[in-house]
Amino acid sequence: MNILVTGGAGYIGSHTVVALLEAGQSVIIADNLSNSKRETVEKIMDITNKEVTFYEIDVTDVEAVDIIFRNHKFEGVVHFAGLKAVGESVEKPLEYYYTNIVSTIVLAKACQKYSVNRFVFSSSATVYGDNKVPFVETMGLLPTTNPYGETKAMSERILTDIAKANPALSISILRYFNPVGAHESGLIGEAPTGIPNNLMPYCTQVAKGKLKKLRVFGNDYPTVDGTGVRDYIHVMDLAEGHVAALENLTEGVHIYNLGTGKGTSVLELVKAFEEANDIEVPYEIVNRRPGDIALCYADASKAKKELGWTAKRDLIAMCRDAWRFEKNYNKQLV
Ligand code: NAD
Ligand code: UFG
Repeated sequence: MNILVTGGAGYIGSHTVVALLEAGQSVIIADNLSNSKRETVEKIMDITNKEVTFYEIDVTDVEAVDIIFRNHKFEGVVHFAGLKAVGESVEKPLEYYYTNIVSTIVLAKACQKYSVNRFVFSSSATVYGDNKVPFVETMGLLPTTNPYGETKAMSERILTDIAKANPALSISILRYFNPVGAHESGLIGEAPTGIPNNLMPYCTQVAKGKLKKLRVFGNDYPTVDGTGVRDYIHVMDLAEGHVAALENLTEGVHIYNLGTGKGTSVLELVKAFEEANDIEVPYEIVNRRPGDIALCYADASKAKKELGWTAKRDLIAMCRDAWRFEKNYNKQLV
C-alpha cells in the first residue's frame, strides 16, 4: 500500500514509518518540521534501507495537501501531525483547536476528493477523563481538563460522523496510552525541546546530568505507592499497532486502545529505569500537578481480539531503549 503519514518526522510518526516500511508498505511523509527535524527522515532510511518521499508542508494548508494527493495515489492516510503539549494548549487554545481540528478536516476532505477510504487517527487516553480504570473503548467520553484533550475528542466525533455518512470509509481511531522508549538502533527517539513535560524524557535528562532532580508530582494518590499510575507502552509496540490497524481495517469506524493493560507508578518507573541502566535518578516529592489523574491504564483486549496485536516489550526494554537514544542523541549534538 502507498500510505501518507502526516507528522511522520515526529516521535511516534517516525517509529511508525519504520514499522510500515518493514512491513513492506510505501510511505510518503508530510510534516512541517515544527516539532521535528529533517535528519529524522534520513535516519528512518538508514534504519530500514528503504526510500521515503518527504514533503515539508503544513497539513492545514488545503492547496499544499491537494498537491500531494494529486502527485500520489494513496491507499491510506495515518494522521499524526498536530500539537500535543497539554500545558501549552491551555495557554494557546486557538492554535491547538486550529491545528488539530483543521488538519483532520483538510485531510478528510482530500480523502473524499481523491477516494482514499482508509484513515488512521492518533487519539489519546486523555479522552477517557477520569473514568474508572481500566479504560474500555465502550466508555463514554468525559470532558478533559485542557484544550488539547478536547481537540482529540472533537476529532474523534468528526471522524465518526464522516464514517456514518459514507459507508465506504474505513476509519481507525487509536487511543494511545503513554508512549515511551525509542527504536532499538538508538537512531530515532523522543527529543523534546526545552525542559521535558513527560516523565521518561525527564528521567533520561536527570540520568544524563542535564537536569538535577526529578520532581515526582504527588505521593498522596490512591495508588500502590501514592504516585500516579500510567500505562507505559514501548513506542515500537505502538508503531506496530498502526501496521496492524491498517492491515485489518474494515468499513466503518473502529476505536482501539493501544496500551499494555498494565499500570506502573512513577516510583516503579524510576526504579525500573535505575535497574535497567545501572544509573541513579535522584528525585524529590513535590505537589500534585494540576489536571493529573491518579490512575490511567488500558483494557487492551479489543486490539488483541480484532487486530491480533499486543504490546511485546517490557518496562526494562522501554527504559533501556530510552536511555540508549538519550546518550546517542546528545553525542550527535556535541
Ligand atoms: P510530535 O510532536 O513528535 O510529532 C508530531 C509531528 O507533527 C511533528 O513532527 C510536527 O513537526 C508535525 N506537525 C505539527 N503540526 C503540523 C502541521 N500543522 N502540519 C504538518 N506537520 C505538523 O508528537 P508525537 O508524540 O509523535 O505525537 C503524534 C500524535 O500522537 C499527535 O497527534 C499527538 O497528539 C498524539 N498522541 C501523542 C501522545 C504522546 O504521549 N506522545 C499520546 C497520545 C496521543
Ligand atoms: N510526572 C512526574 N514528574 C514529571 C513528569 C511526570 O511525577 O516531571 C508524573 C505525572 O504526574 C504522571 C506520570 O508521571 O503521574 C506521567 O506523566 P506524563 O507527563 O509523562 O504523562 P501524562 O499521563 O500526564 O500524559 C501523557 C501525554 C498526554 C496524553 C496522555 C495519555 O503527555 O498527551 O499521556 O494518557 F494525553
